[in-house]
Amino acid sequence: MTQHDRLLIIDFGSQVTQLIARRLRELNVYCEIHPFNRVTDAFLDDFAPRAIILSGGPASVVNPDAPRPPPSVFTRGLPVLGICYGQQVMMQMLGGAVEGGKISGGGGTAEFGRAYVTAAGDPLDLLAGWFDQGREQVWMSHGDHVSRLAPGFAVHGTSPNAPYAITADLARRFYAVQFHPEVHHTPNGKRLYENFVRAAGFAGDWTMGAYREDAIAKIRAQVGDAKVICALSGGVDSSVAAVLIHEAIGDQLTCVFVDHGLLRQGEAEQVVTMFRDHYNMALIHADESERFLTALDGVTDPEVKRKTIGRLFIDVFQKHATEVGGATFLAQGTLYPDVIESVSFSGGPSVTIKSHHNVGGLPEKMGLKLVEPLRELFKDEVRALGRELGLPDSFIGRHPFPGPGLAIRCPGEITREKLAILRAADAVYIDQIRRHGLYDEIWQAFVALLPVRTVGVMGDGRTYDYACALRAVTSVDGMTADYYPFTHEFLGETATRIINEVNGINRVTYDITSKPPGTIEWE
Ligand code: XMP
Repeated sequence: MTQHDRLLIIDFGSQVTQLIARRLRELNVYCEIHPFNRVTDAFLDDFAPRAIILSGGPASVVNPDAPRPPPSVFTRGLPVLGICYGQQVMMQMLGGAVEGGKISGGGGTAEFGRAYVTAAGDPLDLLAGWFDQGREQVWMSHGDHVSRLAPGFAVHGTSPNAPYAITADLARRFYAVQFHPEVHHTPNGKRLYENFVRAAGFAGDWTMGAYREDAIAKIRAQVGDAKVICALSGGVDSSVAAVLIHEAIGDQLTCVFVDHGLLRQGEAEQVVTMFRDHYNMALIHADESERFLTALDGVTDPEVKRKTIGRLFIDVFQKHATEVGGATFLAQGTLYPDVIESVSFSGGPSVTIKSHHNVGGLPEKMGLKLVEPLRELFKDEVRALGRELGLPDSFIGRHPFPGPGLAIRCPGEITREKLAILRAADAVYIDQIRRHGLYDEIWQAFVALLPVRTVGVMGDGRTYDYACALRAVTSVDGMTADYYPFTHEFLGETATRIINEVNGINRVTYDITSKPPGTIEWE
C-alpha cells in the first residue's frame, strides 16, 4: 500500500472548514478534518501530518476559554497555516496580541464580506501568482483582529481594515491570513493553498488511481476471506462502493437489490443488467413490490409512508442477506461529509423534517461489521472514482433518487394505477430534459402526481383526470435548492407531451418553490 503524505485540518467550527478540504483534495493532497478538542499530542504522533491548517471559527481568542490547539503544533517543525480564527489563535499562542472586536465586546471594528488585499513587505512564496493585477479580492469574516504580530512574523499583505491580512514567519514556515482563501469569493484562494502545500513538500499524488489501489488493498486486508453483502440501490454511492469491493474480493461480495415497487420506469432492469451482466456480480434481485405496496395500502401520512418503507426494507434486506449465508460484513456507501464530526457551538439536536431512509440499524441487528470504502471521499470524488472504475458517465451523472422512491412523489394514497401514471409522466419529463440538453444542469427533476382530479376537454369530450406537478431544482448538496428556470416554450412543450402521451393526466403545473421554505421532494 502506498503511504501518502497527510495534511491535518484542525477545526475550530467555521462554517466553511469543509471547503478547505475540498480545495486541498483538488490539489491531490490527502487531508482530514478533526475537531480541535480531539487533537492531542498522541493524536498528532499517530496522524503524523506533513503540514497543519488551523481553520476559522466563531469563538474569540480574547476569551480565556477559547479553543486552542496543543502547543506542540508549533514545535514539531511542521508548516502551519492559520486562517481567520486560526491566525488569531496562532498569533496569541506565539506571543502576539489580538484585540476583541464588536462581537466580543472590544473596541475594534468587525469586517464581513468582500475586501481587497494589496502586497506589502517582501515577496512571499505563498503568494506566487497573487497581486498580478495589483490587488486581490478576498472574503473576510471576523470580529476580532490581530493587533500585534508574534516575534518572527512579518506582514506581506494588508487590507484597509486588516493591516495584518497576510503574515508569515518564513524561518518556521508559519503562515497566517485573516481572510478565507477557501471560499468562492476569494477567487485566487486555491493558488494560495497550492503554494502552501508546495512549500510543505506535498507530492500531490493523491489521485483517484492511487486511491483505487489503496482502497482495494485495504478492503482485502479488512475482509480476508469473509463474505460481504451490500444493499445496492442503483444510486451512485452504493454502486461505486459495490464495484470497488467487487474488484477487491470478487465473488465474496453479494449485492441485494430490493425492488420495493416504487422505482422509476425501467430502473430495476437497468440496475440488474448493469451489475449482473456487465460487471458479472453476484446479485439478488429481490422483487418485493407486493409486500411494500400491500403495507402502504391506504397510508397517506408522509412520515408513516417513510417509516413503513424503512422498516420493511430492513426486514426484506435481512431476509435475502441470510440466504447468502455466513456474511460477516455489510458494505455501505457512507461519504466523508457524513463522518466529519464538526465542532458545534450551538449544540442541541435539530428538528426532524423527514426521517430519511437508509440501512442504519442493520449492522447491530444482524451483528455485521461495516466495510465503508468511500468514507474518505466527497461526492464529486466518488463520481471520479466511479469513472476510474469504468462506470458509464450516464450512470454516474444520474440525479439522486430517494430511498422511499415514488411513494414520496405521490402525495395521498398510493395505488398501482397512480404509480403507473406517475412513471409514465416522469419518463416523458426526463426525456424532454435530456432532449433539450438540460439534464446535467439540473440537480434533480421529477414529476409529483397530485391527489387531485381536474376537469379538462380533449377532442370534444370532457376529461376528469389527475393533475401533476413538475419539479426541477438546482443545488450543490441538496440542503438548499432553487427551482430551475425553464423557458415557457420548454414547459409548454412538456405539458403537451405529458397530456398527449400519458393516460390519466389532463393538467400539468410547474413547482417554483425554493428550499427553504419548501423541500425538494413533496413529502
Ligand atoms: P428534501 O426533500 O429533504 O430532499 O429536500 C433532499 C435530498 O434528499 C433526497 N431524499 C432522500 N434520500 N432517502 C434518501 O436516500 C430519503 O429518505 C430521502 N428523502 C429525500 C431528495 O431526493 C433530495 O435529493
